Amino acid sequence: MPYTVLISGANKGLGLALLEKYLSRPDTIAIATVRDPSSKEAKALHDIPKASGTKLLIVKVESRSETDCLSAVSTLKDQGISHLDLVIANAGYYNVPAEPQVAKISTKLLMEHVDVNAAGPIRLFQATLPLLQKAQKPIFMYMSTMAGSITATGDVPFPVAVYGASKAAGNFLIRRAHQEHPELIIFSMHPGAVKTEGAVPVIESLKMDDIPDFFTTIDKSIDGMVERIDGATKEETSGKFWSFDGSILPW
Ligand SMILES: NC(=O)c1ccc[n+]([C@@H]2O[C@H](COP(=O)([O-])OP(=O)(O)OC[C@H]3O[C@@H](n4cnc5c(N)ncnc54)[C@H](OP(=O)(O)O)[C@@H]3O)[C@@H](O)[C@H]2O)c1
Repeated sequence: MPYTVLISGANKGLGLALLEKYLSRPDTIAIATVRDPSSKEAKALHDIPKASGTKLLIVKVESRSETDCLSAVSTLKDQGISHLDLVIANAGYYNVPAEPQVAKISTKLLMEHVDVNAAGPIRLFQATLPLLQKAQKPIFMYMSTMAGSITATGDVPFPVAVYGASKAAGNFLIRRAHQEHPELIIFSMHPGAVKTEGAVPVIESLKMDDIPDFFTTIDKSIDGMVERIDGATKEETSGKFWSFDGSILPW
């Protein structure tokens, strides 16, 4: 049976690099979720080189939709997908707030971040769970961020209240799901600070470029995350908040 992986937000950034990684492995079905399958970016995914016996499927998922994940799973079943070995809830966003301090944040912006960064991955989790439960060693990875660590928030020198709170909510639900699903390996991942298209406006607005050794390369981020996924076990990996470099972060 082919190894079957689904990656949300796979049209750019970390999601795209993860997709390329899995397409380079033989006998793999890599499923990319994108917001607009008819876009140039999504169509270009078909040009990514594939290893022998490997194929790409593309399905539409807007994270804020209550129905897209369920429709995507239904489409996948129609295309013969009977299980999912790995789901990576990668899609997420950061909208630089005009007023980043807690005393001034827009609660509307907070709710928008929670909708995409916490509820979106849970919608994906709920829709894919039956297919994950048909895999021998099912893994669900939530793309979190160190900025979502409640314990470490005093150490993060950036006003990331809105974004951090949305990822902290996601972390909580992932940890909870770990307790509720002994059959599932489920964990949060900090991918490191990587200069992707989505990260650049954040880097500029928060003047992160001034910090030495803060950034990692996309290759190191992806290799580190995939190493964690490849070696994942219920006992050692599940229910924890990992960094791409193999260290464990505080919740
Ligand atoms: N880069 C970093 O330093 C860093 C650090 C920590 C955590 N992260 C996390 O890593 C993940 C990927 O980030 P990235 O750096 O690769 O950013 P990116 O280049 O902006 O990619 C974000 C992806 O998420 C998708 N997305 C955003 N909002 C969505 C929505 N409402 N519905 C469906 N898809 C949506 C985007 O789709 P569109 O192209 O359609 O917008 C895109 O595919 C995010 O969850 C981010 O929070 C990144």
